[in-house]
Amino acid sequence: MQTLPGFREFYPDTCARRNYILETWRGVARRYGFVEYDGAVVEPLGLYEKKSGGELVGQMFTVAAMAEPGEIKGALRPEMTPTLARMVAAREREFRKPMKWFSVPNCFRHERQQRGRLREFYQLNVDIIGEQSGAADAELVAVLVDTLRAFGLAENEFVVRLSSRSAWQSFFRENAKRADGAALTDEDEYAFFQIVDKAERASAEKTNAALVPFGLDAERVLAFMRSKVPSVDLAPVMADLTARGLGGFVEVDYAIVRGLAYYTGVVFEVFDRAKTERAMAGGGRYDGLLALMSDGKVNLPALGFGMGDVVLEKVIESLPAAKARMEAWCAAQRACEVFVVVAKEELRPQALSLVQQLRDAGRRVDFALTEAKVGKQFQAAEALGARYAVLVGEEWPQVKVKTLATREEQLVSHEAAAALLG
Ligand code: HAM
Repeated sequence: MQTLPGFREFYPDTCARRNYILETWRGVARRYGFVEYDGAVVEPLGLYEKKSGGELVGQMFTVAAMAEPGEIKGALRPEMTPTLARMVAAREREFRKPMKWFSVPNCFRHERQQRGRLREFYQLNVDIIGEQSGAADAELVAVLVDTLRAFGLAENEFVVRLSSRSAWQSFFRENAKRADGAALTDEDEYAFFQIVDKAERASAEKTNAALVPFGLDAERVLAFMRSKVPSVDLAPVMADLTARGLGGFVEVDYAIVRGLAYYTGVVFEVFDRAKTERAMAGGGRYDGLLALMSDGKVNLPALGFGMGDVVLEKVIESLPAAKARMEAWCAAQRACEVFVVVAKEELRPQALSLVQQLRDAGRRVDFALTEAKVGKQFQAAEALGARYAVLVGEEWPQVKVKTLATREEQLVSHEAAAALLG
């Protein structure tokens, strides 16, 4: 029996790559002062039905979860933001603001099988809670840019496309008129965002047809979409990023509106410049979500992004320098440092004692668990990428320390070998 389509299993080589991604994510987030949290893998289905909106609601893996009393409908987490909003709303008084939190959950979405989309993926979530100023949006975009730079991606290899839902909201309020003369509602606004979200890929006829109820046409919408003038909320973010020397990584692009329902202000998505892959990351402000989650009790501004591992890994693999960096990291993780060769089986207890001393000293040490020819043991040492082989044989209490790359040999006492390598 195989794994279900779209779900992940990790043999050592792919597991090393996954760990490279997760550890790099963690390293950069910590460098920016974010602290790690985690939530539950199964949440009440209602959490997403009410708060996420968009396509996501139809992509839920539901499970019957036991509750006391009875049973409620649960869902495997498709994203982290509703969980974070609920966790923060429940105990926000305990935390100094702004809160800078990150997480690296695996998430599940019942997606159609397609390039860059799986049913299980890891997603870096970086969020700032309790800060209204655009300085927080800039800090968030900066951590996003630096995360990708940490993988060896350069300015000409990816771009953060910055946009603003508030700018689109003003456009909609100023230009839209319902055919039936009724006032525009929040639902109309979200329906409009979804049309804009698809407008880049859809035909003009399709976009026009969708815009009819709002008295708008594709031409006007596309003209606004192509204007590159930063809106009032984007201008300070751009200036802040420029001051950090990161201005070249971002572009104003109103084609981005984001699919999820909860976004309110600055929004963004990140793409490879070659544009061969789907978005590597997406996020923005969701200033109303905490209030919604707490029935108005907690009203804190918030913003964040999610970056998946699937597209990221594809992009890394397509860029030789980034790929080499990933492979070097994985090789270093795997490599054994010292291989102890038991050349005389009677000396196995002494060899075991040496292995133990070196491991206690923090070295990565391996050896043949059962009797084997010396040649075979050296082959194993080479295959494991060991730097040194220590030969326990004839010369005991002295041992031969061999540097495998240069074939250099040194005959030293076993205590000296332990000290030398330990
Ligand atoms: P999202 O745009 O739905 O946003 O997902 C963010 C990223 O997760 C995507 O750009 C993509 O890299 C990855 N991703 C999403 N679905 C899949 C999939 N089926 N397979 C592989 N990768 C996938 C959110 O989830 C928001 N909650 C992000 C956020 C955090 N906003 C504020 N804080």
